[in-house]
Amino acid sequence: MKKMTDQKNNIRIFSDPQQMVEAAAEHFYHSAVSAHRRSGCFSVALSGGSTPRALHRRFCEKPYILNIPWKSTHLFWVDERMVPYDHPESNYGVAKKDFIDKLSLPPDHVHPMPISENPDTVVAHYQLQLKTYFEKQNRSEPVFDFILLGIGTDGHIASLFPENPFSDTSNQWVITAKGGDPRVWRMTLNYEILNSAKEILFLISGVGKASVVKSMFENSSKKLPVHRIRPLNGKITYLLDRDAASHINFSGKRYPPKKRK
Ligand code: 6PG
Repeated sequence: MKKMTDQKNNIRIFSDPQQMVEAAAEHFYHSAVSAHRRSGCFSVALSGGSTPRALHRRFCEKPYILNIPWKSTHLFWVDERMVPYDHPESNYGVAKKDFIDKLSLPPDHVHPMPISENPDTVVAHYQLQLKTYFEKQNRSEPVFDFILLGIGTDGHIASLFPENPFSDTSNQWVITAKGGDPRVWRMTLNYEILNSAKEILFLISGVGKASVVKSMFENSSKKLPVHRIRPLNGKITYLLDRDAASHINFSGKRYPPKKRK
């Protein structure tokens, strides 16, 4: 078998996309409960894009609507597109519509990235929100309990694109970049904050992601943004549907290996 990142990594592949969503919701639930028991609160940074939307919707159903400690949950975002919150491409706007408005979350527990035509003017604002929240947790830097990530077909994660020359460490927790689809200015957490999380969950679906997923696990020499996700002390889990995993080489075979008769 080719080297697939490191031993701590946990890759799960689902033939039924609904099962993948269920696994993500369970993962979120367990992480929330253990953070709540540990510290009384649960800090999350959500990704945008289309893949998490089924998970958003699952949050609004039993058992998750009842059993996730929503009142202790603080929602942040890993990235945001500089479009109005009611625009269909707004990461916060989509999550708000999908699930936030349907849950009993205290309004001051929801921390959307601010938007502006000149994103640099609002970076300091989000950094302050992060500082204020994490200082209450006795942290001088953000350490999220849970970060949800997706991946773009070009290997981007959050709004960290291959063409952006950001370093792995930076004094700025939040940075701005133009790119993606739609190609607009965006605000994003940097690599260091993502890698400091206690838990990172990748949710990846669709055949369109198959070749970047292959390179993600088998070709780290490409140095795509996704290759730079290496949690410092945290745990990383990849949930993939069968289509997204279809080019991964398991023991020289394509997924899924044929069943023995
Ligand atoms: C964004 C994202 C981005 C996303 C991937 C996957 O706001 O664009 O946070 O990093 O996770 O592009 O997006 P899809 O789920 O739409 O494929």
